[in-house]
Amino acid sequence: MQLTKYEEDMYNGEYGEGKAECMEILVSLGKIYDAEKMIPITSAQVSGVSYKTIGDAGLDFVVDLGQKADVELETMLNPAGVDIENWEELGFSKEFTDKQIDIIRGYESIGVMSTCTCTPYLIGNTPLLNDHVSWSESSAVCYVNSVIGARSNREGGPSALLAAIVGRTPYYGNHILENRKADMIFDVDYNFTNEAEIGALGYYVGQIVNDKKPYFKLNNSLSRNNLKSLGAALASSGAVSLYHVENVTPEADFAKNHDSFSELEVIDVDESMVKDSIDNLSTTDKIPDLVSLGCPHASITEIQKVASLLKGKKLNKDLWICTSKAIKSISEQCGYLDIIEAAGGKVVSDTCMVVAPIEELDYEVIGVNSAKAANYVPNMCKLDVVYDTVENLIDMIT
Ligand code: F3S
Repeated sequence: MQLTKYEEDMYNGEYGEGKAECMEILVSLGKIYDAEKMIPITSAQVSGVSYKTIGDAGLDFVVDLGQKADVELETMLNPAGVDIENWEELGFSKEFTDKQIDIIRGYESIGVMSTCTCTPYLIGNTPLLNDHVSWSESSAVCYVNSVIGARSNREGGPSALLAAIVGRTPYYGNHILENRKADMIFDVDYNFTNEAEIGALGYYVGQIVNDKKPYFKLNNSLSRNNLKSLGAALASSGAVSLYHVENVTPEADFAKNHDSFSELEVIDVDESMVKDSIDNLSTTDKIPDLVSLGCPHASITEIQKVASLLKGKKLNKDLWICTSKAIKSISEQCGYLDIIEAAGGKVVSDTCMVVAPIEELDYEVIGVNSAKAANYVPNMCKLDVVYDTVENLIDMIT
């Protein structure tokens, strides 16, 4: 691998032991993938935050790193295992929360912003087209590549953090334009009417393509919220890190004009495939005792919609809308938080229904409108799932 003088100096320890260790690991990683060089990055996003998923070993890793080096650039944290301010009200234990706070303080001590969100692009971590970044939360990676057109591999939490400390990442995979072409075309003959159908499409296609790059031809034009749901689903049933939607995403024309495009396999998708996929995402037809929205973390327009559905109503079961602290604060300023809380719902920040230790609370059935959450909750949280639209889920519990 060719390194610049500055990179060589970091590697050799002239900028401290911490940076040297990070460079050594990243160079080894680059060699595995035949990277010819390192590429400077403009932002990072680090997963591996919840105490539920990283445990004491993860806590030790963060504390150890904190004694050696700081991040060099804008770096945001993925969701943690609890809502830091309202953990007690939500039923989480003090023991878990204390460990979780230690992890967050460890990240803060090296300059990582404790935003605790999987939608950093909704709160200011918004790279430009063709920027190189190092992000690790799978749905965020899919969004930053596909919807923003910046370039990230699907990093692990540690590799994204190491990249943030040295300000660069090995140049391979999605960082190289040629690798961003489409691999398979999905011609979808269906008019989507809600977010659950779009998530179901992503869930279906992710299973077929795994880590390949799908190119969608759709009848509908999709909103940013729709694209967020689609990417999260693709990245959970498969390992998709980049997709293209004709006439919508910024590199769709590049994919369509590539020499290889005319040779690609075309898969037709019809209504029955979308409906089957919706059915497959529920594990029960019972009424949920918790409805949890906001996977990936809710945007302000998604919270506005929930508030409009709840206005003047009373919930008879629990409702969480998971989002970042920043979006929760905007929802308070806009009056949506008051409406949701008056109905008996909660806007939950810093965490989500998957990475929180929700299995320790008293729930059996969770209702979600996210294909990613529906895919993960049965295994990671040991709960049954009802997958449906936000309108239908709220109808079930009002
Ligand atoms: Fe985000 Fe949790 Fe879903 S981290 S993408 S809300 S599983």
